[in-house]
Amino acid sequence: MNESDKRAAALAAIEEVRAGMIVGLGTGSTAAFAITALGERRLDIRAVPTSLASAAAARAAGIALIDLPARIDLTIDGADEIDSRLRAIKGAGGAMLREKVVAAASARMIVIADASKRVAAIGAAPIPIEVLPFATAFVADRLAAVGAVVTQRAGFATDQGNVVLDCAFPPDADHARLAAEISTIPGALGHGLFLTEVSATYIADHGVVTRLERDATAD
Ligand code: A5P
Repeated sequence: MNESDKRAAALAAIEEVRAGMIVGLGTGSTAAFAITALGERRLDIRAVPTSLASAAAARAAGIALIDLPARIDLTIDGADEIDSRLRAIKGAGGAMLREKVVAAASARMIVIADASKRVAAIGAAPIPIEVLPFATAFVADRLAAVGAVVTQRAGFATDQGNVVLDCAFPPDADHARLAAEISTIPGALGHGLFLTEVSATYIADHGVVTRLERDATAD
């Protein structure tokens, strides 16, 4: 991972933010660069944080926060893996449930990353799943039945007080099918597969930022 590339991607992406916008603030070290830089621009915006950590960072940066509205103009978030079809795995930080809600509410979602997150095809990273604690054993069993090797994230609770199950699947897994199947398991509250939400990526590699739009991809 490259901190200056994370920052370069973040600085490029925040150029899309305009006064008057409602902005979704992602979670993680790359999103943190965007939050800090956005605060420094002193734009008249309102923002929705995807985690308690991002809310604290936004407050420190002087960004006005609001509750989730029906529609967000633009969200800027990180990812753990992103491929050229703009499919992403998120949730290493455990914020994927709120990130998914914010992404779904967003007219446009940008993923920012350094080049270490760019992969030919997603799937090497485990897929994190937020689970109601009461349902942990049941959900873990159902996930194993669809091919997951399940590891409960030790000593970790989400901002909502829930459990995270990190699920490794075979490299040739059908992620669209998996996303659909995970969504049918009662007690599985959200997962880190972002297959359709990402509108564009800004990826920095040795200081050079490349923007890729979903419209320009095959999907
Ligand atoms: C948070 O739960 C994740 O989805 C993050 O967006 C992701 O882990 C990226 O974090 P970094 O920017 O710190 O790599």
